[in-house]
Amino acid sequence: MIKSQGWDWKIVKNDFDNIWRTPSIESYYLVNRWKDKKDFLDLGCGRGRHSILFGKNGFNVHAFDISEEAIKSTKEWAESENLTFDYKVGDMLELPYDDNSMDSILCRNVISHTDTEGIKKVVSELKRVLRMNGECYLTLASKSTWGYKQDWPMVDENTKLCMREGPEYKVPHFYADYDLIKELFKDFEIVLLNHIGEYIEKEDGVREMYHYHLLIKKV
Ligand SMILES: C[S@@+](CC[C@H](N)C(=O)[O-])C[C@H]1O[C@@H](n2cnc3c(N)ncnc32)[C@H](O)[C@@H]1O
Repeated sequence: MIKSQGWDWKIVKNDFDNIWRTPSIESYYLVNRWKDKKDFLDLGCGRGRHSILFGKNGFNVHAFDISEEAIKSTKEWAESENLTFDYKVGDMLELPYDDNSMDSILCRNVISHTDTEGIKKVVSELKRVLRMNGECYLTLASKSTWGYKQDWPMVDENTKLCMREGPEYKVPHFYADYDLIKELFKDFEIVLLNHIGEYIEKEDGVREMYHYHLLIKKV
């Protein structure tokens, strides 16, 4: 299994006017859907945009990331909003939480940051820490996306090392397809499975980014 490596948040702008401070569209739906699922794990919380949203809506927030800088930044933001969370720095391959301790988990652009063996371990960890009928919303990078088409070093048949300069330089990326997803999540109920494309404008042209979005339930 490849060694885990988090984002280098020190080189990401820390202002309040960027995507890492603005909750994703689906998170507003999840706040409503999960209003009775109070122990909420923000797995790979980054700067904390979802921890803050769920905290403001009365959830018991567990903010978790491999990056100390991410947890520091989430804590500073939460304290400025008078919110109190549980914070932990660690690796998603071994979640530092008890069995059956979480009602809801959000992993937004996080669990692809490993290889094929690693992703299987993460999925088993999600199952272990979720309570029965607990739900997890997660995204996985797709084999249709821009990154998978780059001439980057292969780690295994589904995984490449990102060689783009920036916060995820040399961070592994696992790329999924429909068959891999069906196999990986066969022990869960798949409530929703979408394949979503985004167009990101860059200096050198438009990048087509694709992610699978899944809502899974422990049954
Ligand atoms: C693209 S950012 C997304 C942050 C956040 N989920 C959001 O939507 O704003 C990915 C995050 O996953 C974290 N991460 C990467 N590998 C990890 C691992 N093995 N264990 C825990 N967190 C990890 C990174 O440090 C980073 O904060």
